[in-house]
Amino acid sequence: MAGSAANKRLLFLLLAAAVALTFAAASARRRPVRLRLYMHDIVGGPGQTAVLLVKGAGPENPSMHPGNYFGDTVAVDDLLTEGLAVDSKAVGRAQGTYMVGSMRDPVFVVSVTLLLTAGPYNGSTLIVAGHDDTSEAVRELAVVGGTGRLRRAAGHVLWSMAKVESVLHAVLELDVHASVPVPSDAAPARGGHAFVSSE
Ligand SMILES: *[C@@H]1O[C@H](CO)[C@@H](O)[C@H](O)[C@H]1NC(C)=O
Repeated sequence: MAGSAANKRLLFLLLAAAVALTFAAASARRRPVRLRLYMHDIVGGPGQTAVLLVKGAGPENPSMHPGNYFGDTVAVDDLLTEGLAVDSKAVGRAQGTYMVGSMRDPVFVVSVTLLLTAGPYNGSTLIVAGHDDTSEAVRELAVVGGTGRLRRAAGHVLWSMAKVESVLHAVLELDVHASVPVPSDAAPARGGHAFVSSE
């Protein structure tokens, strides 16, 4: 009996080691992507970039400012900048929606594409989705994918309010902690049309 228990333990340890090695090998083939972006959400007035798309059927959310109804959906085309200031270097747009996603809690459900327009990822996108509980100082949203040089990105975004410029202009800080697969090989053989059948 004792022998069998010891064998089981050994088997478990070997399995755990195999899993750890598999993870190490997988992570070795990914390249980290770290970005800090500031998102300017301007809900009215000059320079407006966020508009109410759907007036939620309610009920009114008791933990948010009056006038916020369950289902309220805002479409955004928000400027992304390198620094906190709206006139710092423009690095992209955040395009998508956020919706009052809870009847009780001050929560938005966010679905945005971050289109980068400068730097090494110019023209690439990151797809971000998740639960934005505004009662928490820092929220964690998911990086669920990407395109271009950010294809198959995965990770998370630490999402927080960086500054309230005015009642109409909030600045969010987006701290992207993601990674992308490193191509398994250098460029494919030249001269052929192998790329036609690739993903
Ligand atoms: C980003 O790419 C576009 C299209 O290729 C190009 O026109 C633009 O100058 C680039 N911007 C920067 C800041 O590199």
